[in-house]
Amino acid sequence: PSLLVLHGPNLNLLGQREPGIYGTTTLAEINQRLQQEAQLHEFAVSFLQSNHEGVLVDAIQSAPDQHQGLIINAAAYTHTSVAIRDAIAAVGIPTVEVHLSNIYRREPFRHHSYIAPVVLGQISGFGVDSYILGLQALVRYLGQTQK
Ligand code: DQA
Repeated sequence: PSLLVLHGPNLNLLGQREPGIYGTTTLAEINQRLQQEAQLHEFAVSFLQSNHEGVLVDAIQSAPDQHQGLIINAAAYTHTSVAIRDAIAAVGIPTVEVHLSNIYRREPFRHHSYIAPVVLGQISGFGVDSYILGLQALVRYLGQTQK
């Protein structure tokens, strides 16, 4: 089985971008940790980062061809993108929403997620561990639904 991890805009700058909020771990390091965690559970994992909404929509649309689950940090698009939400709803792939920061203790405009109503659940505020916990939750969910 295989998972897709999607990273939205500006997450390519992790490590140097507002380290007080997002930490000093780079995106490559996050992907490496996810790769290791997936391997423990005998899952394959693919990664895509894009600063472009349509590229993320395309990736979601084709995700079910190769993947059984999706982990997404839509970054700023979380708070703006009906298109990303509709893509997840359209393909119906089991999805976990993750955020490095706790979006609910930040500015009010970050408190609303367009994605949240179409995902299994959301993990927000644990830094890199949000991704790891998201992967673990998705693997468990997929294991239960396969049995
Ligand atoms: C983020 C939170 C968003 O509000 C922000 O726009 C991001 C990153 C996070 O991982 O904490 O770019 O999704």
